[in-house]
Amino acid sequence: MELWKKIVDDEGQEILDLILTLLVNFYYAELDIIDVCGRWIPRRSVLDEKLMLVEHAWDEMRHAQHFKNGVEALGLKWDELDKNKYYLPDQSTRFSKLLNSDDEIEVLVGLNLYSEGVLAMEELAQLHHNKPEYFPKFGEILTEEGRHLKFGITVARRRFKESEEARAKAQEYCDQFVHHLQQYLWEDINDAINLGIHLKYLDPDYRMKAVKRFENVMSAVNLSVNWPASGPLSEARLAAAHN
Ligand SMILES: [Fe+2]
Ligand SMILES: [Fe+2]
Repeated sequence: MELWKKIVDDEGQEILDLILTLLVNFYYAELDIIDVCGRWIPRRSVLDEKLMLVEHAWDEMRHAQHFKNGVEALGLKWDELDKNKYYLPDQSTRFSKLLNSDDEIEVLVGLNLYSEGVLAMEELAQLHHNKPEYFPKFGEILTEEGRHLKFGITVARRRFKESEEARAKAQEYCDQFVHHLQQYLWEDINDAINLGIHLKYLDPDYRMKAVKRFENVMSAVNLSVNWPASGPLSEARLAAAHN
């Protein structure tokens, strides 16, 4: 029996839809990241850093293929799949600002550090750990996302060393992304996270693991994480500290 039919029989249509939503949205995110990398290749003058972008885009091209293959492995045809049914419009806003940004610091902090180094890496790590049967390639992709994070850290450190203004700007973006993280985890995809936890696709402490990862990533480039004084993130941090 084809895997997609088995999933519908054993676990229900909504589980198949959840898996397809993840694969389709990851696929389109990769295409957006390829475009961001391509935009910055001619603007980089340090050769090693220029080549990092070429490697980065090359990795994402293969990741997009893995996500496409993930759909085919379910026994479905990618070309015949109604991608619009699964594509989340808020996914596009996650990258549209970065696609059009002329601020390299915004792209480094927003893409390499935050979108890839925090959000994508936590999602990939947990989905691979909890459901390797549906996401067999996610471990490999996770390793390479870690490389993209390192590329970002390398360039950010060089930029901060050369310019205090660049560091200060990065700190501003870091402060904005703390608030984005809170809104993203406790509002934007709150229901999806709760469903993912309920179905054991995500760990019960998924949000706090993402928060911890945020702290680790930003600390790696010496940015301060200024947590909000109140709100769900602050409450979750307090609860975690008491456990
Ligand atoms: Fe990727
Ligand atoms: Fe990446």
